[in-house]
Amino acid sequence: MAEFLKDLKRTHNCGQLRGDHVGQTAVLMGWVQSYRDHGGTIFVDLRDRYGLTQVRFDASLGQELLGDAERLRPEWTLGVRGEVVSRGENSNPNLPTGQIELLADSLQIFSASETPPFQIQDNIDTNENLRLTNRFLDLRRKPLQDKLVLRSKVNQVTRNYLCENGFLELETPILTKSTPEGARDYLVPSRVHPGQFYALPQSPQLFKQLFMIAGYDRYFQICRCFRDEDLRADRQPEFTQIDMEMSFVVSEDVFSICEGLVTRVFKEAIGVDVNAPFPRMSYADAMRDYGVDRPDTRFGLLLKDVSEPFAASGFKVFKGIVDKGGVVKGINVKGKNNFSRKQLSEFEKYAGIYGAKGLAWIKINEDGWQSPIAKFLDDDVRAKLTETMGLEVGDIALFVADKASVANDSLGNLRVHLGKTLGLADPNAFNFTWVTEFPMFEWDEDSQRFHAVHHPFTSPLIDDIDLLDSDPGKARAAAYDLVLNGNEIGGGSIRIHSQEVQSKVFGLLGIGPEEAEQKFGFLLRALSFGAPPHGGIAFGMDRLIMLLTGAESIRDVIAYPKTQKASCLMTQAPSPVDNDQLDELGLRIKRTEPAQS
Ligand code: AMO
Ligand code: AMP
Repeated sequence: MAEFLKDLKRTHNCGQLRGDHVGQTAVLMGWVQSYRDHGGTIFVDLRDRYGLTQVRFDASLGQELLGDAERLRPEWTLGVRGEVVSRGENSNPNLPTGQIELLADSLQIFSASETPPFQIQDNIDTNENLRLTNRFLDLRRKPLQDKLVLRSKVNQVTRNYLCENGFLELETPILTKSTPEGARDYLVPSRVHPGQFYALPQSPQLFKQLFMIAGYDRYFQICRCFRDEDLRADRQPEFTQIDMEMSFVVSEDVFSICEGLVTRVFKEAIGVDVNAPFPRMSYADAMRDYGVDRPDTRFGLLLKDVSEPFAASGFKVFKGIVDKGGVVKGINVKGKNNFSRKQLSEFEKYAGIYGAKGLAWIKINEDGWQSPIAKFLDDDVRAKLTETMGLEVGDIALFVADKASVANDSLGNLRVHLGKTLGLADPNAFNFTWVTEFPMFEWDEDSQRFHAVHHPFTSPLIDDIDLLDSDPGKARAAAYDLVLNGNEIGGGSIRIHSQEVQSKVFGLLGIGPEEAEQKFGFLLRALSFGAPPHGGIAFGMDRLIMLLTGAESIRDVIAYPKTQKASCLMTQAPSPVDNDQLDELGLRIKRTEPAQS
């Protein structure tokens, strides 16, 4: 029976043929990358995901073949058979297959192609929306293919490592009940139960805990999670986690399994040796020294608390802020007392994004201190600042005064910005840090109640359990994040395995007994039937791949990503549905304009 490929059967891919194949007959299949007509001889670079091979169509092999070849254009798909011949002096040393070419004796055109809206080549500066609309073409480009190939490799290494370590790969539902991780849920209406909704999981958190209670003591899943939240370069509405849970463990057990996984992934995926164990840093220390809970430890520029000297100074703005319980924090940018006014005002604007009301500066020049606030600082204050911040001639100190959260956030983010713009962070270094001992709760001024810093199922540290009654705002959690070069690539915790503690934590989060029963009754019941101590973590797979490949955005490592507005430009999702469908679901659309925020 004749099929599309007729008598052709692919023998090699387009990146495979070398000098020692000369003399053999080969069949290649792929896409026309480029086409050159030299009158009587036509050269085609044939591309597949493995590489490029030059194919030569020569008049000496017949006019019919040459006539067919003359019709070829970029992105046509073909099969060609021919003899592998040496290119001799015309070898192309820049191409792995550059020593040879395929002298075609048979050509089959599988499909013609329209002229693509952008060229399929490594470097293009095409607008991202056009690329996303035509993702099927963008995915033909080698930089994207390389990233997805690496992604597949990481999936495989992860599975191998975790299975070798006794983890079971188990699946959990997608149509489920809300599993809160701090974002809005995506809801799916039920046809069978009109007016009722499933929620897509923000993570498999509760299901993996139930696996532990059921005795499956090591679980993992490479799973999709859905979160309706404001998107940024490192966030997507649906993303992939490497999700893990273990029973009878403490944090250190989780750390060592993860260190083994990360070491193996880096070695096998990109050939990099990383040093484990990774440094541990408490949340309090991270905030003190880096101002953020995801420290980029590739460079110094640490934050220093200089509240005390400023409280004793004549600079009323800063003194007033400290007197009201705020702080002054500063960084010493070594050797940069030549920053221009323009640069300083750009940095001030940058800090302003994070709420800073200003950015005070002091330049330590040969001939003394230069600063709009220098006149308020006497010798004593200057001596203290010099000592705390290690100030030397040539330096510039930058300060933010505010409540601690704003001072840390603005200066911490400015630090990262300076690290990038001044080239302080080694782009080839991979610095991992475990950040530990997060607070259990953060106080939300708007709603006047506590929120869980990790999630509501996270256990307090044993030493801090009593604080749940006496001073919950001070309780630390057995929660941890894995940070790589200033990016949070994973987060997890030891969980609450006591129904009593879980109920208490729900209460502190403003979830009363009735709501707890309605939302999490199944968890509370499960906890009453012999729950083991357990804990786990989830890695953000997309972020991990982004860092492994040096991509700028997680969109570049996801095959079919969504835009910052959570839409898929290729399929045009989300999109309206028929009235019939709405009727069936018992739904009516009240509003088609986006809600005003
Ligand atoms: P968490 O919410 O910290 O923990 O998520 C774990 C990791 O997932 C990644 N991540 C994201 N990646 C892309 N787009 C997003 N919108 C997004 N949100 C999160 C981050 C993050 O570190 N159930 C807990 C894990 C646990 O406790 O075991 C959880 O989901 O890299
Ligand atoms: P002023 O006395 O308001 O002119 O401010 C003097 C300097 O202090 C200016 O460089 C301001 O940017 C800076 N400044 C004012 N308020 C703050 C603040 N809260 N944190 C940091 N710098 C500030």
